[in-house]
Amino acid sequence: MRVVSGIQPTGKPHLGNYLGAIVNYVKLQDEAHAQGGQCFIFLADLHAISMPHSPAELTKNTREMVATLVACGVDPAKTVLFNQAQVPAHAELQWLLSGTARMGWLNRMTQWKDKAGKNREGQSIALFTYPVLQAADVLLYQATHVPVGEDQKQHLELARDIAQKFNNDFCDEDAPLFTLPDPYIPPAAARIMSLRDGSSKMSKSDPSEMSRISLTDDADTIMKKIKKAKTDSEPLPSEAKELDERAEAKNLVGIYAALVGKSVDDVLADHGGQGFGAFKPALGEVLIETLAPINARFAELKDDQEALDAILARGAARAREIALPTLDATYKALGLVRG
Ligand code: TYM
Repeated sequence: MRVVSGIQPTGKPHLGNYLGAIVNYVKLQDEAHAQGGQCFIFLADLHAISMPHSPAELTKNTREMVATLVACGVDPAKTVLFNQAQVPAHAELQWLLSGTARMGWLNRMTQWKDKAGKNREGQSIALFTYPVLQAADVLLYQATHVPVGEDQKQHLELARDIAQKFNNDFCDEDAPLFTLPDPYIPPAAARIMSLRDGSSKMSKSDPSEMSRISLTDDADTIMKKIKKAKTDSEPLPSEAKELDERAEAKNLVGIYAALVGKSVDDVLADHGGQGFGAFKPALGEVLIETLAPINARFAELKDDQEALDAILARGAARAREIALPTLDATYKALGLVRG
């Protein structure tokens, strides 16, 4: 079992990142550790330069993201925790895979289409080739399980396509180089939506702070944001399928279910018939209870720059070592001569 996943150190991590991905980093880290497998969690700082960014902010956010991940339960003693920029093999493998990835495949990526909008010509090349770096991230460590939210599913399908084509084109049938990675997507929290608009996902880049719960929000802020969250005026139904046409209600019930580890049906069995005047405070309480210990731990860790840098340096040294055999084998498979 090889668990690999990444998160961009841009802006403050939010509840979507937590329930969609970070909770499963911790779950799979513990499973891998128990089975003698390995877990790699990295900060996708090289991905972060695909959009306009402030270098000083990127440095600050990188350290804060390490503190957040550790506060959420990612344990540097069990997980190789690092940032891409300290492991040049990521960028190297991206280039080596660029001969295999096809323009048509990248053109079909919905994230590229969404982020580029009508101005494709004005985008950085990095934004277009971003999914090839993401493929390199996981293929480099022969990932089997990749914990992500649903928005990353298409990128992982691309990673599988690249791996398969590379294996077909450059490897013997009985000795493929790359493992095909499987996404690991949580059922209830695959896509946490904005608190202001049930049709768009909760995102770091939404201009409204009220659209998301940041993992570092305090109790009052959390309760205020939940109470102000957009909803309809109907009471909660008693069955999950009745939420299908009610995006905002569905989102809040889904968040509650993910937080307490129950199915949506079980939550509705307890809360069906309740109006939002009663359900929202209940949800706010569960959120505050979940995030309070994370917040406290984050506050302890965030200013110890030396300790945070040491975690990254140790993780990166380990990642460089483990990445080497796959990187070397890739150069060799392509016929590239290296001393
Ligand atoms: P990023 O930084 O946008 O998000 C980090 C993780 O959080 C998940 N996520 C969500 N899940 C549920 N609901 C939401 N509203 C929500 N918003 C974000 C994302 O799916 C992701 O799992 N390209 C990636 C980073 C990356 C990566 C990788 C991931 C780079 N290389 C290799 C996996 C494997 C990204 O930008 O995630």
